[in-house]
Amino acid sequence: MIIENEGMVTEAVQHATARTRDTRLREIVDLFVKHAHAFLREARPTDEEFEAGLRFIAALGHHTHETNNEVVLASDVFGLSTLVKLLNHPLQAGPTASALLGPFYRGNAPWCEPGDNIARSATPGPALLVSGEVRDVDGAALAGAVVDVWQASPVGFYENQDPHQENMNLRGRFRTDAEGRYRFRSVKPAGYPVPTNGPVGRLLDAQQRHPFRPAHLHFIASAEGHETLITQVFADDDENLTSDVVFGVVAPLVGTFRRHDRVGPDAPPDIQAPYYTLEYDLVLAKGVPSFPTPPIP
Ligand code: BEZ
Ligand code: FE
Repeated sequence: MIIENEGMVTEAVQHATARTRDTRLREIVDLFVKHAHAFLREARPTDEEFEAGLRFIAALGHHTHETNNEVVLASDVFGLSTLVKLLNHPLQAGPTASALLGPFYRGNAPWCEPGDNIARSATPGPALLVSGEVRDVDGAALAGAVVDVWQASPVGFYENQDPHQENMNLRGRFRTDAEGRYRFRSVKPAGYPVPTNGPVGRLLDAQQRHPFRPAHLHFIASAEGHETLITQVFADDDENLTSDVVFGVVAPLVGTFRRHDRVGPDAPPDIQAPYYTLEYDLVLAKGVPSFPTPPIP
């Protein structure tokens, strides 16, 4: 096809891609072309603006390496990652809401006994006692389910970002008991900034956005015959709860972090006030378990 005017470009591209063997690939690329062309027709970038946009995309690649994926980060701060998550796992009554896996998940976290402390090296900060039940959508307790948890420290660093923390600090895997319950001890996580030393950081700056995620715990809960739940539970006292830089906070995932100014009778004997408790149940949909590939080893 010889292009005679701007309006024909979209059709020419769709004509050129029409013989794509994989029909799903064809559908996705066609939709991308359709909407990207519509976007350009509406935004009307100048040549210079278009080149700046392409330089931004190239810079995402240049800032992607073993310990940082700037492409994923861009998807996160544009809300794309959360949108895809919610399209594939709609918020509904029944199963616990899903949330992003994030870049800090590691496989093979140490196996723990109920009540164990996942702070494996001195990690100053208020203690946190977490407990809950894992159950199915009919309310039946799931005994022997696996709850994999990881979190940032009270100063906002994951163990692999921080030379002061021991390997696998604030990470652990627990099995639920006969009543489907899990419990562990930890320290209260703090919020933390996403990396800002690349093009995404410069964009956030231009947008006058802060780079912080509110404090949260990550969970992967899995059990035979059930879909694996990947989620996060957010601290209800975090000042950035309504402005998470990656738009990960949905109402059902805000946990009640209860502050205790006196040591209660059920608390471990060596705990010091103030400390916090979080009770959070994890509800799994029926289905087939599947596990994410850890973004870092
Ligand atoms: C996280 O939850 O760990 C995370 C998610 C997206 C970007 C950065 C961190
Ligand atoms: Fe996180």
